[in-house]
Amino acid sequence: MKLAIIGAGNVGGTLGTAWAHKAGHEIFFGVTDPKSDKTQALVRTLGGKAQAGTAAEAARFAEMIVLTTPWQAAEAAIRAMRDSLGDLTGKILLDATNPLAMGPDGLQLAIGHSISAGEKVQGWAKGASVFKTLNTTGFANMASPIFDGVKSVMFVAGDDTANKPKVLKLVGDLGFEAIDAGPLRNARLLEAHAMLWIDLALSRGQGRDWAFAILRR
Ligand SMILES: NC(=O)c1ccc[n+]([C@@H]2O[C@H](COP(=O)([O-])OP(=O)(O)OC[C@H]3O[C@@H](n4cnc5c(N)ncnc54)[C@H](OP(=O)(O)O)[C@@H]3O)[C@@H](O)[C@H]2O)c1
Repeated sequence: MKLAIIGAGNVGGTLGTAWAHKAGHEIFFGVTDPKSDKTQALVRTLGGKAQAGTAAEAARFAEMIVLTTPWQAAEAAIRAMRDSLGDLTGKILLDATNPLAMGPDGLQLAIGHSISAGEKVQGWAKGASVFKTLNTTGFANMASPIFDGVKSVMFVAGDDTANKPKVLKLVGDLGFEAIDAGPLRNARLLEAHAMLWIDLALSRGQGRDWAFAILRR
C-alpha cells in the first residue's frame, strides 16, 4: 500500500521503517525540509521503498496518510495538504498525535473532556476519514510491539466503519493486536490513555520498555 507519513521523527521514522520492512508498504515522508540530512539518511535506509517531499506531495501519492507531527504543527501540516489538494476527500488519515502541553505538574493534555485532537484533526482535514490510533504507546514499541510472544494492544477509533478494517489491518501489520475502539469521539479516551502511558513511563519509573495488552478469559 502507498502510505504518506507526515513527519519523519521518532514516530514517523519508526512507523515508516516498520511498515516498509514488515509489510512492504511504499512510504512517502511529508516533511518541512525533505532535503535535510536526517530525512535523506532515513530514506536511504529504506532503499527503494521510501521517498521524501512536502506534506502535499506525500498526500497526493498515498491512499492513507499518517499524521505524526507535534500537536502544535498538526493544523499547519493539514492546511498545507488542503491548500495543494483542495480537500482530502477519499483519503484515510490516521492521527497519531497527542495534544500535549506543559502544565504546572509537567506534561498534560491541552484538551480532552469535550473535544479531542482526533476530532480537531477531522475538522481541519475536510473530506478525509480520520482515525485515532498509534498514539497510546512509545515509538520504540511501534518497532517491537510483541513482548514474550504477547502482542501489545493498539486501539483504532473512527467513524468510517467501511474503511476501519483497512486501518485495523495496517496497524496489525506492525505486530499489534489492533482493536476497534468505536467512533472518533473516543479519541478523547485514547488520548487520556496515552497520557497514562506517558505519565507511567516518564514520571513513575516504568521507563519506555512496556506496553498495554489485553488479557481475556
Ligand atoms: N514519541 C513517542 O513515543 C510518541 C508516541 C505516540 C504518539 N506520539 C505523538 O506523535 C507525534 C510526533 O512525536 P515524535 O516523538 O515523533 O516527534 P518528533 O520526533 O519531534 O517528530 C516530529 C516530526 O514532525 C515534523 N514536522 C514538524 N512540523 C511539520 C509540518 N508542518 N509538516 C510536516 N512535518 C512536520 C518534524 O520535522 P522537523 O524535525 O524538521 O521539524 C519531525 O520530523 C506527537 O504528536 C506525539 O505526541 C509520540
